[in-house]
Amino acid sequence: MIVVKDLVRQFKSGDRTIKPVNGVSFELEKGSLASIVGKSGSGKSTLLSLLGALDKPTSGDVVVDGVSLAGLPDGKLTEYRRRDIGFVFQQFNLIPNLSAVDNVMLPMEFAGVRKAARLQRAKELLEQVQLDPEKHSRRTNRLSGGEQQRVAIARALANEPKLILADEPTGNLDEQTGEHIIELLSSLSRDHNTTILVVTHDRSLAKKTERCFRLQQGRLTEEVRTESRR
Ligand SMILES: Nc1ncnc2c1ncn2[C@@H]1O[C@H](COP(=O)(O)OP(=O)(O)OP(=O)(O)O)[C@@H](O)[C@H]1O
Ligand SMILES: [Mg+2]
Repeated sequence: MIVVKDLVRQFKSGDRTIKPVNGVSFELEKGSLASIVGKSGSGKSTLLSLLGALDKPTSGDVVVDGVSLAGLPDGKLTEYRRRDIGFVFQQFNLIPNLSAVDNVMLPMEFAGVRKAARLQRAKELLEQVQLDPEKHSRRTNRLSGGEQQRVAIARALANEPKLILADEPTGNLDEQTGEHIIELLSSLSRDHNTTILVVTHDRSLAKKTERCFRLQQGRLTEEVRTESRR
């Protein structure tokens, strides 16, 4: 369970101060899939960075399974980021000259998992994201965008994170491939009971998530749903 409490992040912009995140509070149940929409520059990526401990808030707190990030020293924050968070980005951010399977093994290596176990788990994850087995050992710069995003999602799952943060994971994909990626995230949140928060510009994709939030003028509001999407 993720509890976000009155989060504020301000930046200096010339002689002005901007607050793209200005008093954001919400909770995510374990295993839920939620989306965030909002205009460009509204603070969506800033908010994800705070949740993933890539950045620190000006004030407020994020509490993950009872542990307050505000109370953690830097070393523990790094550990949290590596072990408890899986990141998925618009640009995939894979290592281009490593194979798909090596990319997925990398976070497990940082976490100290033995080689044989890493290899087996990486293969299983690539199967779960439905990457064609003959492409498992192909260098990722020789995969299509949709295939690369599947690898990136498998990599995000590698250490069984508590939370997956996906920043416009379908932004570089065509509509149909984007839909497959959202469906994949949805089934993974169910099967692994992983909490997933996805930022998207695409309203039709946001509609496919259980909950949808809108970030506007530093505040987050939840859009009311009349029916479950699952
Ligand atoms: N490190 C930083 N220093 C100063 N200003 C920043 C920094 N990071 C983000 N900002 C500003 O904060 C605001 C929110 O940026 P953010 O990247 O969170 O928006 P976004 O909603 O993700 O936009 P997009 O949809 O275009 O990705 C913008 O005005 C941006 O210029
Ligand atoms: Mg952004």
